[in-house]
This record gives sequence, structure tokens and C-alpha cells, in this order.
Amino acid sequence: MCAELVTVFGGTGFLGQQIVKRLFAGGHRIRVASRHAERARFQFGSDRIELFNGDIHDPESVEAAVAEASAVVNAVSLYVEGGGVTFRSLHVDGAQRVARSAAEAGVRALLHVSGIGVDTESSSTFIRARALGEQMVTAAFPGVVVL
Ligand SMILES: NC(=O)c1ccc[n+]([C@@H]2O[C@H](COP(=O)([O-])OP(=O)(O)OC[C@H]3O[C@@H](n4cnc5c(N)ncnc54)[C@H](OP(=O)(O)O)[C@@H]3O)[C@@H](O)[C@H]2O)c1
Repeated sequence: MCAELVTVFGGTGFLGQQIVKRLFAGGHRIRVASRHAERARFQFGSDRIELFNGDIHDPESVEAAVAEASAVVNAVSLYVEGGGVTFRSLHVDGAQRVARSAAEAGVRALLHVSGIGVDTESSSTFIRARALGEQMVTAAFPGVVVL
């Protein structure tokens, strides 16, 4: 039987790499989705790991990234705003886009990696965005696991 496909947004990142390694060890097929997916040098040269260049801000690339996946992980990150990319655009709108696209594609499971101490009333733009992002993904994908 063909192994199920898991798309990992941010699979080249600090946390995402560890998630990919665990999924690989578990026998899954993995699609690493990020703007520079070729950085996934931990791919073991396996045909069970597919590199997908895409941006979470781009609806078409998000839709393509989740196509045919059984599960999706969102482990993208942004710690400093700039170049038109904001905490809101990535952690709220981008997170919602992933969750909606996954739901529409019939993905069975979504893991959304959030931040520590989320709070909609925080004085921190980052912390507020993370809290709002959790609300968006929870509404868009019933049963989402928020970590
Ligand atoms: N690291 C920690 O100790 C820690 C602690 C608590 C929570 N977290 C949370 O865990 C998550 C991952 O954090 P991390 O530290 O592993 O981040 P990271 O090392 O900075 O990795 C970020 C990942 O997101 C991808 N990415 C960034 N912008 C993107 C975009 N526009 N479209 C697609 N992919 C994009 C990056 O790849 P490209 O640059 O190739 O696009 C990279 O794969 C975040 O939600 C973070 O808040 C981390």
C-alpha cells in the first residue's frame, strides 16, 4: 500500500526539520513546502520526500501544496516583520489560508504550530497575531490540533 502523504509547511525550519525526520522514520511520504524548499538537505535523497517551493501568502501555491495530502502541518514562522510580510499576513491570514485549503481539499488532519503564551489582549503584535491565528484555524478546520 502507498504511504500517506503529509505536507509540512516550514519543513525546512528548526522545528519543521524535526517533524519531517519523525514522519520519515514513521514511513510517511512527505512534501516539504517552503519558499526555499531546496534547503531541505536532510531529505536523505529519498523519493518519499518531495520538495515544493511555495509561499503561504500565495493561495495557488497553498492549494497545490495540500493537494492529495492526508495530513498537513503548518510550522512556518516569522520573528521579524519586513518586506511587506507581517505577523498578521503570515500567522493569521496565512494560517487561515492553509487551514481553509486543507479543509477544502479533504485533508483529514491538520497540525498548527502556534506560539507560546498566546493572548488576544497582549501588547505584543506577535502574541496577538498568534492568538488570532489559532482562532482562525480552529474555525476553518474543525478538529485541528493546535500545538
Ligand atoms: N523554535 C522554537 O523554539 C519555537 C518555540 C515555540 C514555538 N515555535 C513555533 O514553531 C513554529 C516554527 O518555528 P521555527 O523556529 O522552527 O521557525 P524557523 O526555523 O524560522 O523556520 C520557519 C520555516 O517557515 C518557512 N517559511 C517562512 N515564511 C514562509 C512563507 N511565507 N511561506 C512558506 N514558508 C515560509 C521557512 O522556510 P523558507 O524561508 O524557505 O520559506 C522555514 O521552513 C513557529 O510557529 C514558531 O512560533 C518555535
